[in-house]
Amino acid sequence: MAPKIRLLPDVLINKIAAGEVIERPASVVKELVENALDAGATAVTVKISEGGLALIEVTDNGSGMTPDDLKLAICRHATSKIEKPEDLFNIHSFGFRGEALPSITSVSQCTIKSRIRGAASGYLLEISGGGLTEESETGCDHGTFISVRNLFFNTPARRKFLRSPSSEVRRVVEVVESLAVSNPQTEFVVDSDNQRLLDLSSASDKMERAKQLFGISLADKFVRGERSGDGLRLEVYLSKPEICRRNRSRVMILVNNRRIESRALFASLISAYGEFLTHGMYPQGVVFITIEPSLVDVNVHPAKAEVRFADERIIFHTLYHLVRESLLGGSALPGAFGLGQSRGSNGTIPSDRQATTRQSVRDFFGQSTSTAVQSEESLATIFGKPAADITDHTHSRLEEAVVRGASAPMEATVSPSTAQVTRKALGISGEVRFQQLALMYVVALTADSVFIIDQHAAHERILYETAMKSLAARTITSQQLLFPVAIHLEPDDFY
Ligand SMILES: Nc1ncnc2c1ncn2[C@@H]1O[C@H](COP(=O)(O)OP(=O)(O)OP(=O)(O)O)[C@@H](O)[C@H]1O
Ligand SMILES: [Mg+2]
Repeated sequence: MAPKIRLLPDVLINKIAAGEVIERPASVVKELVENALDAGATAVTVKISEGGLALIEVTDNGSGMTPDDLKLAICRHATSKIEKPEDLFNIHSFGFRGEALPSITSVSQCTIKSRIRGAASGYLLEISGGGLTEESETGCDHGTFISVRNLFFNTPARRKFLRSPSSEVRRVVEVVESLAVSNPQTEFVVDSDNQRLLDLSSASDKMERAKQLFGISLADKFVRGERSGDGLRLEVYLSKPEICRRNRSRVMILVNNRRIESRALFASLISAYGEFLTHGMYPQGVVFITIEPSLVDVNVHPAKAEVRFADERIIFHTLYHLVRESLLGGSALPGAFGLGQSRGSNGTIPSDRQATTRQSVRDFFGQSTSTAVQSEESLATIFGKPAADITDHTHSRLEEAVVRGASAPMEATVSPSTAQVTRKALGISGEVRFQQLALMYVVALTADSVFIIDQHAAHERILYETAMKSLAARTITSQQLLFPVAIHLEPDDFY
């Protein structure tokens, strides 16, 4: 019987690969600009029309290719960037798979012109749907020029799934911006239908480039921070909460200069903004992660949009704390966001709150002067009467107060049964006098000790114990909340 299995022809293999690597016009722009940067270009120009579907042109002033290299470049798995299996774990370039050019040329009509420095002329290739249609010497500047026309002309299904040209244009600009931020010295220009959308001159460093991208006039609305150690370096340029946006795509996370998508890192960043971020709003800015190449696997996603770290937790943790510190240290967070609610900016309690607390303490001790609270005398007044002297009459009065509830908090004590539980929990015997202080604490007085219990924390503990008991007994009842409650989780909680 004749074999049913056959090796596919290269043109078909390339088209299949293109299905993964080239999703939309922005993917073509990404691959071509990455090639330009790998070739050491200091100026890159991108021109598109009709959102990149009709035309994408990328010109660079990088190393260029010899005619022989150029002919190889459009073949599958032809690359100048890696050689041996070990190289895969020590990647220093954007490209390494040798599949971008064959993928692009298999789903479009392409012209490539390239010339190396010192060569008398350049070389030209015309490729349509993966087939070479023309090659010749040509006059051109040194560097490389690639024109991609009628993208997906031979894969109509892919063409149908694309968004509107304007949304494709936005993605193209985003792709160039993310490559520009990691290559500050390189100049970038993006034109769409003859309209200049991006024009970046050379910048001194990444932070300066980030400033160019997010607006030099907005620079004081951004915070910067950095941390390094153990083969890892994190730098951030992030907006203060006041200029956050509805769009989450304005946060770029770069690992060794490669923009990646990472839900976990994004979650870590958002959780660092925490309560300072209005629901549905996102910060903008850049997170630069520089890590020893051997500690990160960049070969895990068809479009290299994801990476895998040897130790993710340390990165999430460091990012969380760096962002938090940068925001707080730069006093990016106004007191109204909650931080300064109980204490003023210099760490003191605001005077109106002090007055309320003082009054409450005064009521508790039945004193008429506020200063008496802190004095030795007033302490003597409280503790002067030994607990053993507490009469049944006192107890019943206090119990009554509990029944009356919070309206008589200053005299409150607890019922005998609760007192028994508390006594057991505190490990005390004998008479105990319970009272409430400043509407916040339960004070338990025994003959020789004072226990101050944060009643809110104690209440939470009781609820926690009750919940744990019902969890163990599988008797949990649930009810949907009328208003959603935001729960703050630390990055570690995601694992
Ligand atoms: N603009 C350019 N300037 C100089 N050389 C280039 C340029 N574009 C491509 N090349 C050469 O062509 C080769 C093939 O490019 P291609 O993008 O297909 O693969 P790659 O960059 O090596 O890997 P990847 O598929 O991961 O991008 C590159 O390795 C490089 O040597
Ligand atoms: Mg490439």
